[in-house]
Amino acid sequence: MRENRSGVKDLIYLENISVLFGDFKALDRVIFFMSVGELRFLIGPNGAGKTTLLDVICRKVKESSGRIFFEEEDFLHSSIHRVARMGISRKFQSPSVFPGLTVMENMELAYPRARGLFSALRCRFSSAELDEIGEILKRVNLAERRNSPAAELSHGQKQWLEIALSLIQKPKLLLVDEPAAGMTREERNRTGEILRDIAAHTSVLVVEHDMKFVEAFSRKVSVLHEGRIICEGSFAEVSRNSRVLSVYLGRGE
Ligand SMILES: Nc1ncnc2c1ncn2[C@@H]1O[C@H](COP(=O)(O)OP(=O)(O)O)[C@@H](O)[C@H]1O
Ligand SMILES: [Mg+2]
Repeated sequence: MRENRSGVKDLIYLENISVLFGDFKALDRVIFFMSVGELRFLIGPNGAGKTTLLDVICRKVKESSGRIFFEEEDFLHSSIHRVARMGISRKFQSPSVFPGLTVMENMELAYPRARGLFSALRCRFSSAELDEIGEILKRVNLAERRNSPAAELSHGQKQWLEIALSLIQKPKLLLVDEPAAGMTREERNRTGEILRDIAAHTSVLVVEHDMKFVEAFSRKVSVLHEGRIICEGSFAEVSRNSRVLSVYLGRGE
């Protein structure tokens, strides 16, 4: 792994990544790196390229130029499946949850060794595997809902179940796009606590536009604007940066 200035190993390193959609530059020579164990927030106005940054990391879109390294490995030719096997997991907005199945059944189905629907539901899980699933459900605040059909969960709880389904793959890097969208204030706070707790075991990159949420739960924040990282630092640092202020508030630089 590349060592950054403080001697901490980089988990992921984007080197001059550009993404073009036709003539439009969604990402423009982005340099971005994260260390192992980080909880990083990515903010920026609508259209800044935040989702595209997650998409290029998980290989949903391909860069036009630049290179990406994950644990030192250049993943230029890596597919979406290969990157998942390398340990990058994306929690998608689109539901991967089966509403008719219980929380526990959804987890069993997502368990890496399980193959198809029927074999997964029929196969027996060892007590160690069940404990592992139970631990993840506890971490996302769903232990008490394990026997509820997913359809009966609140919007927030469904989002947490999706995070749990990503965690069962034991990713080294979890990517989440606007996890608190549409949640009640209480669910948002719980989501922030969940992400912090996850970051104790897994590096997490969170795109979020709710500034109260970012202020409450972020450590380091990266600000993207028109496809470029314009500022990085604590929430307090970035929120008094003149470029960031001008982007968000239209103030002069
Ligand atoms: N598949 C695509 N084709 C063309 N333009 C796209 C595509 N995806 C995103 N864009 C454009 O790229 C820019 C960045 O999009 P996005 O990464 O979704 O921004 P954000 O998540 O920060 O709001 C936007 O202007 C968007 O319209
Ligand atoms: Mg987006």
